[in-house]
Order: sequence, then C-alpha cells, then structure tokens
Amino acid sequence: MRKTYWGTAVLLAALFFSCNRRSGPAPQIPLQDGWKFKPTDNLEFARPDFDDRGWTNIGVDKTWNKQGFPKYEGFGWYRIKVIIPSSLKKKAYLQDSVIFHLGRIDDFDQVFLNGELIGENLKNMPPGSKPNDAYKNLKYSFWDVPRRYSLPADDPRIRWDRENVIAVRVFDWGVAGGIYSGDLRIAMPEEREYFSLRFDRHIFQEKNGQWQKTLKIKNKAEKYSIEGRIRILVKNNISGKAIYQGDESFQLQPGTAHSFRYSLPKQQQSASAQYTVLFENSGDTLTFTEGVPYILTPPEKERPQINGALVYGQRPGKPFLYRIAATGRRPMSFLAVNLPEGLMLDTETGIITGKVNKRGVYKIRLIAENELGKDEKTLTVKIGDTIALTPPMGWNSWNCWGLSVTQERVYAAAKSFVESGLADHGWTYINIDDGWEIYGKSQEAKRTPDGEIRTNEKFPEMKKLGKDIHALGLKFGIYSSPGPLTCGGYTASYGYEERDAHTFADWGIDYLKYDLCTYRDLMTDQNDPKELMPPYKKMQKALAKQNRDIVYSLCEYGNGKVWEWGAKVGGNLWRTTGDIWDDWDRMFFIGFNQEEAAPYAGPGHWNDPDMLIVGWVGWGEHLHPTNLTPDEQYTHVSLWALLAAPLLLGNDLTRLDDFTLNLLTNDEVLAVDQDPLGRQGIPVIKEKNIHVYKKELSDGSAAVGIFNTGRATQEYTLYPEKIGIRRGVKVRDLWRQKDLGRLDREFKTVIPPHGVTLIKVSE
Ligand code: GLA
Repeated sequence: MRKTYWGTAVLLAALFFSCNRRSGPAPQIPLQDGWKFKPTDNLEFARPDFDDRGWTNIGVDKTWNKQGFPKYEGFGWYRIKVIIPSSLKKKAYLQDSVIFHLGRIDDFDQVFLNGELIGENLKNMPPGSKPNDAYKNLKYSFWDVPRRYSLPADDPRIRWDRENVIAVRVFDWGVAGGIYSGDLRIAMPEEREYFSLRFDRHIFQEKNGQWQKTLKIKNKAEKYSIEGRIRILVKNNISGKAIYQGDESFQLQPGTAHSFRYSLPKQQQSASAQYTVLFENSGDTLTFTEGVPYILTPPEKERPQINGALVYGQRPGKPFLYRIAATGRRPMSFLAVNLPEGLMLDTETGIITGKVNKRGVYKIRLIAENELGKDEKTLTVKIGDTIALTPPMGWNSWNCWGLSVTQERVYAAAKSFVESGLADHGWTYINIDDGWEIYGKSQEAKRTPDGEIRTNEKFPEMKKLGKDIHALGLKFGIYSSPGPLTCGGYTASYGYEERDAHTFADWGIDYLKYDLCTYRDLMTDQNDPKELMPPYKKMQKALAKQNRDIVYSLCEYGNGKVWEWGAKVGGNLWRTTGDIWDDWDRMFFIGFNQEEAAPYAGPGHWNDPDMLIVGWVGWGEHLHPTNLTPDEQYTHVSLWALLAAPLLLGNDLTRLDDFTLNLLTNDEVLAVDQDPLGRQGIPVIKEKNIHVYKKELSDGSAAVGIFNTGRATQEYTLYPEKIGIRRGVKVRDLWRQKDLGRLDREFKTVIPPHGVTLIKVSE
C-alpha cells in the first residue's frame, strides 16, 4: 500500500505552536480538514496501511447527510493522517497525556489510532453491552456529546514525529449521522481541563433576607495540584455598578474539591455575576458568567385576593370543577352567590363541583373572606359548547421527569400546586406526559383481553390518582398518540381510539395531549392537512361521546399549519412548533415566531408554543436548574402571556425556589395571559435587538412587552403613536405592579440583556 503524504504535509503546515505558555494559546494540531469517508463497515479500515485513496473527502462541520449522503444511516468510517510532533509535548505545561478531541459524533463511535482501539463512546451503556449491541440499542445516543479521548504520552500507539492514522467508526441509527461539529484537534491537556467550577447546580438561595451563592471548585486531575485565584464580580445590569467584588485564592490537591460562598442583598434589578479563574502555574484563565435572580412581583397580601381566570366554560351535564384561586392568610372562607342549579361550593376549600344541565351564561359572585377582610369578584360561567375559554394553566411531567415519570411524582406535583400556593394563582392542570403506558417492546400485555389500555408498574392506581387530584380541586391530564406507539415507544391509541377515550373518562381525565409520533409512519405526507386531520378528528369524536369534558391538546409540532384547521378537528390547543428546551436560542426561536398563527387564537382554541422551561428541568432522572438567566425567564413568561399561550410548567414542583415561585405568581402578568378576550399578542415593532409586542385586552387596555433580544443592556424609547396607542394613556409596570404615570410623547426604558419591560397601557 502506498501512503499519501500530501494530507500529512498540509496538516504539518497547519500546526501552530506557542512559545510562551503564560500568554499564548496552548499548542495543538488541528483536525478540522483532511478527513476521508466511506459509508460502509469493515474493520480493515482501521489499519494504518489501508489504501483510502478512493474515499470521499468529507468535512467534519456537518453530517454526512449534508455532504452527498442524504439518506444514509448505519456504519460509516472516517480516516485522517497526521504527524504528531514531539514539540507538541515539549511546549505544553502538562506533558504526560495526549488528548484527541473529535467533536460531536452522531450517534456512536469507536476510535482507532494506527489500527488499535483507543476509545469508544459507551458511557451510560448498560453493563455487559458490546459495541455492536450498543449501536443497535436505540435507547442511548451521544449525538451531542463532544468526544475527548486521552492517551498517556508514552503510550506506544502514538507514533511521535511520524505519520499516524486516526480511523473513526461511526454508527448512525437514523435521521442524520457522522462527525458534525466541534473543535477537532490533538492537544496536550490544559490545566483548565482538570478544573471544574460548578455554580449552575447551586442556585442562589435565600438566607436571612440575602441571596447566598455557593461556588464549588474541583481538581479532577490524579497527579497535578492546581492553584490560583477566583475573582468574583457582580454587577447591576442597569446601572453597570458593582454590587459585589471578591477575590478567593485556592490550592487544590489532586482529586480534591472546595466550596466558597458569597452573599448579596436580595436584588430587585437585573444583575449578573462573573467568575474569572486565574491559574497560577500555567497562566491559563477561565471566565464564567451567570445571571443573578431578582424579585419583581411584590409580596402577597395577607388580605384575601381572588385571582385567576374569571370566565369558565363547561358543557351541559358534564362534571364541573372550579377551584376559586385566592391568596391571603388562611383560614379563609368562601361564598358563591347565584350559583346555578346543580352546583355546590365547599366553603372551606373554595372548590365548586356539580353539574349544570341548562345552557346559559351565569354570573356568580365569589367572595373570599379572612380575619383581615374580604374580596369579591364575578365569575362568568358559560354552559355551552366551548371549554378552555382561557389558555389552560398547569403542569406537565415531560420537561422534568421525561419517561421516568411515576404516579408519586405526579401526585407530588399536585400537592405542591396547593402547598406552594401556585393553585391560588390559577394553576390548575396536572398532566402526565409520555411514559405511563406499557413499553412497546416489553413482553407484557399492552391491553387487557377486552382491549383496555394498561398502565405500567409506575402507575399502579390511575383512577385513584385522578380522584386524589380532583380532591385538591385540580384537573387531571394524560397523553397518548394516534399512532401505534408514543414518541417514547410506549403503547398508544391507534385502533383503540374509542376504547381509550372511554378509559380516560373513567379515570377522570380532564385533558388529553395527543401526540402524532408514530402515526407519521402511516402517512405519505406529514404536512398534508388532509392526512393530519382524520386521526385527530377520530379521537375528538371519541372524546365527545364521554361523560366528561376533556380539553383536547393536539401535538403534531405545527405540521401542515395546524392553526388553520386545529379548531375544525375540535382542538382546544395545538402545538405550533417542535419541542422546547432550556436554552435561549431555542426559546427565542419558538417564542418570537408565533405571528403567523396569531389570528387563529381565541377562547376555546389556542396556539401552543410548548411548555415553560423555568425551575428544575431535565427530561429524566437528573434535573438541573434551567439554563435560562433570570432575565430570559422574565422574557419567557412575559412573552408566553402576551401570546395567550397555554402555560404549562415543566419543572419539579417539589423544588421551587424563591425566584421561580415569584416568577410564576404575578397575578397581573398571569391576567394578561388569561384575559377573556383571548387575543394573541403580535409584534408591532421589530428593530435590531428590540421586539415590541402588543396584546389587546378585554377592558380596552393593552399589554405591551418591550424585549431586548441583544446581549447588552439597552435603552429604548417607545413612541405611542408608533404602536397605535393614544398619547396620555396610563402606564403600569406589570411585573412590579406599579403605576408609572401617563405616557405623553414617549416612554423611556432601560432593558437588561435578553430581558423585558412589560407594561399595561389604559385610558
Ligand atoms: C414529543 C412531544 C413532547 C413529549 C414527547 C414525549 O417529543 O413533542 O412534548 O410529549 O414527545 O415522548
């Protein structure tokens, strides 16, 4: 076999060395260019002398599907030739190992150096799995994990100052495959790679009226000690002034950890913290930043205050359940004047139950009273054909528990709704997402002999769960798919629609999320409403036959412009997009792209830009605090309220911190979402980094959100005539619940990075 020296020469030329470790970048060999690719599998390809001249040149910045192999899935091999010069080692501060950074690989990989296996990505695989089983086991994928394989510098597999062949065997299980992003390179380890600073799992905790923060540092190296300093700088994002400055020095022996704490006064304006780590020995530095929570919602009053949507729809003769949402010191007693025939109020809990047979609009006077006073409000009950008169507000298990949801976790969420006080602000639905059914690949019977869908062992008593949730005055939701399996691979409703609707009703279900998932395999065009509508209509018909109202949530990711036909198949809400996750770009992309669907929102039928990603989330067993900064969370909740979006929390409600609770209990902000007019807000100004949204409200006023989508604090002047507002209107800051006077010529505001100013303008 002849070797090709050309690629090697190019790589050698691209080598970059720094001679001063304390100021320049660390030496490294880039592996960004020069790869060859073959879309088949043969272990011979690992051999260094294999002749790959006939292979395709390929980039490692995008999947192979985007480089001439659009439909290919399965095994594919990548090869590259590279000289590893001994100067790489000599110029490094840490010299005893060599790291192969191979970027992100979709889905699995094994890496060979000069014909020998040096690493494979089997982390998290069940014990005993072999690479090949692993590749075929569809439960685990590391598609988004950057690959980093380390070898001792004296490992005989490394050929110093000679040509080396790296061969990567990739297995893609579908959709897209290959090495597709990341900074591919060979480098000696840097000191910072052995150092970790964890601040994200240690949220700012309230302690004696202060925010207390813990920073945990760790030396992950087995041999080296690490010493240096951490500079802490906390700044107010509006004034730019320093709120806190600290300097901590550290010396960490191998494998040891250390924690620091600092405290700040509780903030009421946007702030951010910067942690700069200076490594004493290598001269390396590392910087981290994070948002500091700040509280805007004023403390709850001790006197009674009735909150939540004051319009409620139910169909005639269907079980009625409405919990009067009221804040204030307990005990509190409730009264409802003019209750229509068939309804009863529990005066201690404020829960109204019963059935109303006669269609009509009923005005009920609600009264909540405690030792400090009382509050009165009118609730309009509409007994007719429309339910979900305002966007549903509640919780769904997906964004926290994913497929690890259990009955206890669901009930714990329901209890937290009441105990944390969230239910007193109108939060109502407790919805189980995917993962309650029998797994499709399990040997167990999926249904009883007469066709009733069975729950898995994590949900031993579904009917009892429903009863317990109802007893708290809350509503109970569930999930299924029109396909044979759910997205998570669990049993779904295909062929059993009527049967399942009946079972759901029997369990006391009030809300069904119906997720397209595997029904897609039965379609020829996933975007054709003619194909999308029938399965949704079928379930709606089945639901309509039940003895209770079931809010119907369509989940098909916005395919075929669902907003144009969702109401025709009886949908009360429909997802307009793919899934959300706790990342600014994702939330931004979804939230700020809802305009086209806006005209289709209204009482009984809502656009659903997916669930909220605040608090502790994680899609499985291991939760983390949301990656959104406090400002991004204010933006998230404000925008969803302006969009009249369903508000479904996705966090672990048993782990609610002060900031998150404060964020979710602002009655004036929630009232924007729950406004009975049901108009979806739309963008009225779009400028660089500034988006202004306006939502018309039922009392003739409007809510206006001014969003700063940029990374720097921004001053903005809003001119009322530009957004169709009369001069002289009253302005109220909704988050602070504070009047700001009259809006004459202009309204000036300073908005923190990714933050919002949310106001209400009224006559
Ligand atoms: C899809 C949906 C999610 C969630 C999962 C469950 O991805 O869009 O909201 O329901 O399925 O598997």
